[in-house]
Amino acid sequence: MVDLSSDLGFLRLKNPVIAASGTFGYGLEFQPLYDLSQLGGLVVKGLYFKPREGNPPPRLAETPCGLINSIGLQGIGVEAFCQEVLPKLALLETAIIANVCGEEEEEYARVAEYLSRHQGLAALELNISCPNVRAGGKCPAQDPEATYRTVKRVKQVSPLPLITKLSPNVTDITAVALAAEEAGSEAVSLVNTFLALAIDLESRKPKLGNVLGGLSGPAIKPLALRMVFEVARQVKIPVIGLGGIFSYQDALEFMVAGASAVEVGTANFVNPLACPEIIKGLEDWAESHGLNRLSEIVGSLKV
Ligand SMILES: Cc1cc2nc3c(=O)[nH]c(=O)nc-3n(C[C@H](O)[C@H](O)[C@H](O)COP(=O)(O)O)c2cc1C
Repeated sequence: MVDLSSDLGFLRLKNPVIAASGTFGYGLEFQPLYDLSQLGGLVVKGLYFKPREGNPPPRLAETPCGLINSIGLQGIGVEAFCQEVLPKLALLETAIIANVCGEEEEEYARVAEYLSRHQGLAALELNISCPNVRAGGKCPAQDPEATYRTVKRVKQVSPLPLITKLSPNVTDITAVALAAEEAGSEAVSLVNTFLALAIDLESRKPKLGNVLGGLSGPAIKPLALRMVFEVARQVKIPVIGLGGIFSYQDALEFMVAGASAVEVGTANFVNPLACPEIIKGLEDWAESHGLNRLSEIVGSLKV
């Protein structure tokens, strides 16, 4: 029997596979398909304090090897989440992680504080890629100082472990990762989507109602892998890698690049059984390679 567990220090996952935010609903939608307790963890759709309608449609555009979305963080808000969803998720034997959003620093803190008062969450994932209205639509993840301030503020109000989710839409992602670490984040996850544009040629209009969207899926995998590699070499806290993971081989590449755990996003849309299939693939691979613990491969890239 191979030990698949991933010890993040603040949290021990039974295996390194986590369903990514926004691609797995609030988790319960996938319950009829398989036992969610198989997962290492699941991150729910991003939560602002109040319910949100999101961006105008169309909100999805397919590209040859990726998906551009401009959902705009539609969501039910923290109150409905804590009353209607969290009690059911808390019964599962997997790490439940809430994805925290905010239009400004104070909203991040309010959301985190509210969530922390309820039982059932293993950690918070801070989605600092939300556009900040006060900063003219810039997101905190695009600026190390804003990242530091936001993480610090959330740490003041929430005792839950914090995973700061980084945006790839920056020149130097390691500077932002280091700022999150310095402010007390227990881990970083990367990457969120890449800003992208899809055009309908005949109408010469953008395909998405919001004009721009975020690209995810296989197209971004090599870029995300590079960023995970760079960040893992710089920070001491665990790195959770994501971006285009569709197979167990993809997951292994992220781990070899330095990720202690991985998140699976767009793959869930293509194959709703992607996560359990990746977990099984990791187990078989580790067994066939004579490993006692899968975590032995983390950061093992030979350079
Ligand atoms: C439709 C859709 C909705 C998403 N919503 C969120 C969200 O609410 N919060 C968040 O942090 N990331 C969100 N993401 C980003 C994913 O969690 C993930 O970071 C990104 O898609 C890259 O991983 P992937 O290529 O495996 O999908 C969303 C992605 C998609 C495709």
